[in-house]
Amino acid sequence: MKAVIPAAGLGTRFLPATKSTPKEMLPVVDKPAIQYVVEEAVEAGIDDILIITGRGKQSIEDYFDMSYELESVLHQRNDYDTLEQLERISDLADIHYIRQKSPLGLGHAVLCAKKHVDDDDFAVLLGDDIIISETPCIGQLVDQFRAREAPVVAVGEVPREAVVRYGIVDGEPVGERLYRVRGMVEKPPVEEAPSTLAVMGRYVFTPEIFGFIEEVEPGRGGEIQLTDAISAYNRHHQVYAYRFDGRRFDLGNKLDWIKTNIELALTRDEYREQLLEFMRGKTSS
Ligand code: UTP
Repeated sequence: MKAVIPAAGLGTRFLPATKSTPKEMLPVVDKPAIQYVVEEAVEAGIDDILIITGRGKQSIEDYFDMSYELESVLHQRNDYDTLEQLERISDLADIHYIRQKSPLGLGHAVLCAKKHVDDDDFAVLLGDDIIISETPCIGQLVDQFRAREAPVVAVGEVPREAVVRYGIVDGEPVGERLYRVRGMVEKPPVEEAPSTLAVMGRYVFTPEIFGFIEEVEPGRGGEIQLTDAISAYNRHHQVYAYRFDGRRFDLGNKLDWIKTNIELALTRDEYREQLLEFMRGKTSS
Protein backbone atom coordinates (compact mmCIF):
# COMPACT_ATOMS: atom_id res chain seq x y z
CA MET A 1 0.00 0.00 0.00
CA LYS A 2 1.12 3.57 -0.73
CA ALA A 3 0.58 6.65 1.42
CA VAL A 4 -0.33 10.14 0.29
CA ILE A 5 0.34 13.12 2.54
CA PRO A 6 -1.36 16.33 1.35
CA ALA A 7 0.74 19.26 2.52
CA ALA A 8 -0.03 21.94 -0.05
CA GLY A 9 -2.51 24.07 1.90
CA LEU A 10 -1.87 27.76 2.47
CA GLY A 11 -2.09 27.58 6.27
CA THR A 12 -3.82 30.97 6.44
CA ARG A 13 -4.99 30.39 10.03
CA PHE A 14 -1.36 30.30 11.06
CA LEU A 15 -0.15 33.50 9.39
CA PRO A 16 2.28 35.17 9.68
CA ALA A 17 4.31 32.11 10.80
CA THR A 18 3.31 30.26 7.62
CA LYS A 19 4.16 33.11 5.24
CA SER A 20 7.50 31.50 4.36
CA THR A 21 7.46 28.28 6.43
CA PRO A 22 4.99 25.51 5.60
CA LYS A 23 2.59 24.72 8.43
CA GLU A 24 3.69 21.09 8.17
CA MET A 25 7.30 22.14 8.93
CA LEU A 26 6.49 23.94 12.17
CA PRO A 27 8.33 22.19 14.98
CA VAL A 28 6.43 20.13 17.50
CA VAL A 29 8.78 19.74 20.47
CA ASP A 30 11.91 18.85 18.48
CA LYS A 31 10.89 17.79 14.99
CA PRO A 32 8.62 19.14 12.26
CA ALA A 33 4.98 18.10 12.35
CA ILE A 34 5.20 16.20 9.07
CA GLN A 35 7.92 13.90 10.43
CA TYR A 36 5.42 12.48 12.97
CA VAL A 37 3.07 11.78 10.08
CA VAL A 38 5.73 10.10 7.92
CA GLU A 39 6.83 8.02 10.93
CA GLU A 40 3.24 6.88 11.52
CA ALA A 41 3.03 5.58 7.95
CA VAL A 42 6.43 3.89 8.20
CA GLU A 43 5.51 2.24 11.52
CA ALA A 44 2.41 0.85 9.81
CA GLY A 45 4.67 -0.77 7.21
CA ILE A 46 4.09 1.75 4.42
CA ASP A 47 7.32 2.86 2.79
CA ASP A 48 6.15 4.41 -0.48
CA ILE A 49 5.06 7.90 0.45
CA LEU A 50 3.90 10.69 -1.85
CA ILE A 51 3.87 14.17 -0.36
CA ILE A 52 1.66 16.72 -2.14
CA THR A 53 3.50 20.01 -1.97
CA GLY A 54 2.98 23.40 -3.53
CA ARG A 55 4.40 26.87 -3.78
CA GLY A 56 6.68 27.73 -0.86
CA LYS A 57 6.95 24.11 0.34
CA GLN A 58 10.51 23.42 -0.85
CA SER A 59 11.73 23.06 2.74
CA ILE A 60 9.71 19.82 3.07
CA GLU A 61 11.74 18.24 0.25
CA ASP A 62 15.01 19.57 1.65
CA TYR A 63 14.15 18.19 5.07
CA PHE A 64 13.78 14.58 3.92
CA ASP A 65 16.81 14.82 1.62
CA MET A 66 20.46 14.19 2.53
CA SER A 67 22.37 17.24 3.76
CA TYR A 68 25.98 16.65 2.70
CA GLU A 69 27.33 19.91 4.12
CA LEU A 70 25.84 19.41 7.56
CA GLU A 71 26.81 15.75 7.62
CA SER A 72 30.44 16.49 6.78
CA VAL A 73 30.62 19.17 9.50
CA LEU A 74 29.18 16.72 12.04
CA HIS A 75 31.73 14.11 10.92
CA GLN A 76 34.58 16.55 11.45
CA ARG A 77 33.24 17.30 14.93
CA ASN A 78 32.80 13.59 15.74
CA ASP A 79 29.18 14.34 16.64
CA TYR A 80 27.92 10.89 15.67
CA ASP A 81 24.67 11.06 17.64
CA THR A 82 23.39 14.06 15.70
CA LEU A 83 24.73 12.61 12.48
CA GLU A 84 22.76 9.42 13.06
CA GLN A 85 19.59 11.44 13.67
CA LEU A 86 20.05 13.26 10.35
CA GLU A 87 20.76 10.08 8.44
CA ARG A 88 17.69 8.45 9.94
CA ILE A 89 15.48 11.25 8.58
CA SER A 90 16.68 10.85 4.99
CA ASP A 91 16.46 7.03 5.23
CA LEU A 92 12.93 6.97 6.66
CA ALA A 93 11.08 5.95 3.52
CA ASP A 94 10.95 6.18 -0.23
CA ILE A 95 9.47 9.67 -0.43
CA HIS A 96 8.12 11.15 -3.67
CA TYR A 97 6.76 14.62 -4.32
CA ILE A 98 4.24 16.17 -6.62
CA ARG A 99 3.09 19.75 -6.69
CA GLN A 100 -0.51 20.85 -6.44
CA LYS A 101 -0.24 23.88 -8.69
CA SER A 102 -3.01 25.77 -6.95
CA PRO A 103 -4.51 25.02 -3.52
CA LEU A 104 -7.97 24.06 -4.77
CA GLY A 105 -8.86 22.00 -1.72
CA LEU A 106 -8.08 18.70 -0.04
CA GLY A 107 -10.01 16.63 -2.60
CA HIS A 108 -8.01 18.24 -5.39
CA ALA A 109 -4.74 17.61 -3.49
CA VAL A 110 -5.59 13.89 -3.24
CA LEU A 111 -6.47 13.83 -6.95
CA CYS A 112 -2.91 15.01 -7.70
CA ALA A 113 -1.78 11.57 -6.46
CA LYS A 114 -3.76 9.68 -9.12
CA LYS A 115 -0.84 8.93 -11.44
CA HIS A 116 1.51 7.82 -8.67
CA VAL A 117 -1.10 5.68 -6.91
CA ASP A 118 -2.19 4.06 -10.17
CA ASP A 119 -4.22 0.88 -9.48
CA ASP A 120 -3.17 0.48 -5.85
CA ASP A 121 -5.16 0.95 -2.67
CA PHE A 122 -3.77 3.87 -0.71
CA ALA A 123 -3.73 5.61 2.63
CA VAL A 124 -4.12 9.38 3.12
CA LEU A 125 -2.61 11.11 6.15
CA LEU A 126 -3.05 14.85 6.58
CA GLY A 127 0.25 16.60 7.07
CA ASP A 128 -1.01 18.82 9.88
CA ASP A 129 -2.65 16.20 12.14
CA ILE A 130 -0.52 14.25 14.59
CA ILE A 131 -1.99 11.07 16.05
CA ILE A 132 -0.25 9.36 18.95
CA SER A 133 -1.26 5.75 19.59
CA GLU A 134 0.14 2.34 20.52
CA THR A 135 -0.72 0.90 17.11
CA PRO A 136 -0.27 3.54 14.39
CA CYS A 137 -3.69 4.99 13.56
CA ILE A 138 -3.24 4.39 9.84
CA GLY A 139 -2.35 0.75 10.60
CA GLN A 140 -5.63 0.37 12.52
CA LEU A 141 -7.47 1.71 9.47
CA VAL A 142 -5.60 -0.54 7.04
CA ASP A 143 -6.63 -3.58 9.16
CA GLN A 144 -10.31 -2.53 8.93
CA PHE A 145 -9.95 -1.80 5.22
CA ARG A 146 -8.64 -5.32 4.62
CA ALA A 147 -11.29 -6.95 6.82
CA ARG A 148 -14.19 -5.05 5.19
CA GLU A 149 -12.70 -4.68 1.72
CA ALA A 150 -14.03 -1.14 1.71
CA PRO A 151 -12.71 2.39 2.31
CA VAL A 152 -12.34 3.50 5.92
CA VAL A 153 -12.11 6.99 7.42
CA ALA A 154 -10.79 7.73 10.92
CA VAL A 155 -13.25 9.43 13.26
CA GLY A 156 -13.25 10.71 16.81
CA GLU A 157 -15.86 12.20 19.14
CA VAL A 158 -15.79 16.00 19.43
CA PRO A 159 -17.84 18.38 21.61
CA ARG A 160 -21.08 19.38 19.86
CA GLU A 161 -20.02 23.03 19.50
CA ALA A 162 -16.89 21.88 17.58
CA VAL A 163 -18.76 20.13 14.73
CA VAL A 164 -18.58 23.35 12.68
CA ARG A 165 -14.84 22.74 12.20
CA TYR A 166 -15.00 19.13 10.91
CA GLY A 167 -16.41 16.71 8.40
CA ILE A 168 -19.16 14.96 10.39
CA VAL A 169 -20.24 11.34 9.86
CA ASP A 170 -23.75 9.96 10.07
CA GLY A 171 -22.91 6.38 11.01
CA GLU A 172 -24.63 3.18 12.05
CA PRO A 173 -22.59 1.25 14.66
CA VAL A 174 -21.67 -2.20 13.34
CA GLY A 175 -18.78 -3.15 15.62
CA GLU A 176 -16.94 -2.03 18.71
CA ARG A 177 -15.40 1.01 17.04
CA LEU A 178 -16.79 0.60 13.56
CA TYR A 179 -19.63 2.45 11.81
CA ARG A 180 -21.26 1.95 8.47
CA VAL A 181 -21.35 5.43 6.94
CA ARG A 182 -24.86 6.61 5.97
CA GLY A 183 -23.71 10.11 5.03
CA MET A 184 -21.09 12.78 5.63
CA VAL A 185 -21.32 16.53 5.80
CA GLU A 186 -18.50 19.08 5.80
CA LYS A 187 -18.47 21.65 8.63
CA PRO A 188 -22.24 21.60 9.38
CA PRO A 189 -23.96 24.16 11.63
CA VAL A 190 -24.39 22.70 15.17
CA GLU A 191 -28.15 22.17 14.73
CA GLU A 192 -27.71 20.28 11.43
CA ALA A 193 -24.89 17.94 12.50
CA PRO A 194 -26.01 14.29 12.25
CA SER A 195 -23.64 13.29 15.09
CA THR A 196 -20.51 14.38 16.94
CA LEU A 197 -18.29 11.87 15.11
CA ALA A 198 -15.68 13.94 13.32
CA VAL A 199 -13.35 12.89 10.51
CA MET A 200 -9.77 13.09 11.76
CA GLY A 201 -7.31 13.28 8.89
CA ARG A 202 -6.64 9.59 8.17
CA TYR A 203 -8.26 7.57 5.35
CA VAL A 204 -7.76 4.39 3.34
CA PHE A 205 -9.17 4.33 -0.19
CA THR A 206 -9.38 2.17 -3.25
CA PRO A 207 -8.29 3.98 -6.45
CA GLU A 208 -11.99 4.27 -7.46
CA ILE A 209 -12.17 7.36 -5.25
CA PHE A 210 -10.35 9.38 -7.94
CA GLY A 211 -13.29 9.11 -10.34
CA PHE A 212 -15.59 10.52 -7.67
CA ILE A 213 -13.22 13.40 -6.85
CA GLU A 214 -13.16 14.28 -10.55
CA GLU A 215 -16.96 14.63 -10.49
CA VAL A 216 -17.12 16.85 -7.41
CA GLU A 217 -18.24 20.44 -7.90
CA PRO A 218 -16.39 23.05 -5.85
CA GLY A 219 -18.15 23.21 -2.48
CA ARG A 220 -17.77 25.26 0.68
CA GLY A 221 -15.15 27.98 0.13
CA GLY A 222 -14.83 27.17 -3.59
CA GLU A 223 -12.67 24.13 -2.75
CA ILE A 224 -12.92 20.57 -4.07
CA GLN A 225 -13.86 18.84 -0.83
CA LEU A 226 -12.70 15.30 -0.14
CA THR A 227 -15.78 14.83 2.05
CA ASP A 228 -18.06 15.41 -0.97
CA ALA A 229 -16.20 12.77 -2.99
CA ILE A 230 -16.44 10.25 -0.14
CA SER A 231 -20.17 10.97 0.22
CA ALA A 232 -20.67 10.41 -3.52
CA TYR A 233 -18.64 7.17 -3.41
CA ASN A 234 -20.71 6.04 -0.41
CA ARG A 235 -23.90 6.33 -2.46
CA HIS A 236 -22.56 3.53 -4.71
CA HIS A 237 -20.27 1.46 -2.44
CA GLN A 238 -20.13 1.16 1.33
CA VAL A 239 -17.65 3.33 3.27
CA TYR A 240 -16.83 2.65 6.94
CA ALA A 241 -15.77 4.98 9.75
CA TYR A 242 -13.45 3.72 12.47
CA ARG A 243 -13.16 5.35 15.91
CA PHE A 244 -9.43 4.80 16.23
CA ASP A 245 -7.62 4.12 19.47
CA GLY A 246 -5.26 7.04 20.13
CA ARG A 247 -5.07 10.82 20.57
CA ARG A 248 -5.18 13.29 17.76
CA PHE A 249 -3.48 16.67 17.91
CA ASP A 250 -4.59 19.38 15.52
CA LEU A 251 -1.89 21.75 14.32
CA GLY A 252 -4.10 23.84 12.09
CA ASN A 253 -4.39 26.82 14.42
CA LYS A 254 -2.12 28.63 16.81
CA LEU A 255 -3.66 27.72 20.16
CA ASP A 256 -3.90 24.02 19.31
CA TRP A 257 -0.29 24.03 18.15
CA ILE A 258 0.84 25.55 21.48
CA LYS A 259 -1.23 22.99 23.43
CA THR A 260 0.18 20.13 21.30
CA ASN A 261 3.74 21.23 22.01
CA ILE A 262 3.08 21.35 25.76
CA GLU A 263 1.25 18.01 25.86
CA LEU A 264 3.86 16.17 23.82
CA ALA A 265 6.76 17.78 25.72
CA LEU A 266 5.15 16.55 28.96
CA THR A 267 5.36 12.98 27.66
CA ARG A 268 9.15 13.33 27.34
CA ASP A 269 11.23 12.49 30.43
CA GLU A 270 13.93 15.04 29.57
CA TYR A 271 11.48 17.98 29.58
CA ARG A 272 8.61 16.96 31.84
CA GLU A 273 9.77 18.06 35.31
CA GLN A 274 11.31 21.35 34.21
CA LEU A 275 8.29 22.22 32.11
CA LEU A 276 5.88 21.49 34.97
CA GLU A 277 7.99 23.59 37.30
CA PHE A 278 8.03 26.43 34.77
CA MET A 279 4.24 26.29 34.32
CA ARG A 280 3.58 26.17 38.08
CA GLY A 281 5.71 29.30 38.46
CA LYS A 282 3.84 31.03 35.66
CA THR A 283 0.36 30.14 36.89
CA SER A 284 0.98 31.11 40.53
CA SER A 285 2.38 34.61 39.75
P1 UTP B 1 -6.61 22.70 5.93
O1 UTP B 1 -8.06 22.49 5.87
O2 UTP B 1 -6.01 22.85 7.29
O3 UTP B 1 -6.26 23.97 5.02
O4 UTP B 1 -5.91 21.51 5.15
P2 UTP B 1 -4.96 24.85 4.92
O5 UTP B 1 -5.08 25.63 3.65
O6 UTP B 1 -3.70 24.05 5.06
O7 UTP B 1 -5.00 25.83 6.18
P3 UTP B 1 -5.88 27.14 6.45
O8 UTP B 1 -7.30 26.67 6.60
O9 UTP B 1 -5.66 28.09 5.29
O10 UTP B 1 -5.31 27.69 7.72
C1 UTP B 1 -5.80 20.20 5.68
C2 UTP B 1 -4.63 19.50 5.01
O11 UTP B 1 -4.84 19.44 3.60
C3 UTP B 1 -3.77 20.05 2.90
C4 UTP B 1 -3.10 20.97 3.93
O12 UTP B 1 -1.73 21.16 3.61
C5 UTP B 1 -3.30 20.22 5.22
O13 UTP B 1 -2.30 19.25 5.43
N1 UTP B 1 -4.32 20.79 1.73
C6 UTP B 1 -5.39 21.62 1.86
C7 UTP B 1 -3.72 20.63 0.49
O14 UTP B 1 -2.73 19.87 0.35
N2 UTP B 1 -4.21 21.32 -0.57
C8 UTP B 1 -5.28 22.16 -0.48
O15 UTP B 1 -5.69 22.76 -1.50
C9 UTP B 1 -5.88 22.31 0.78
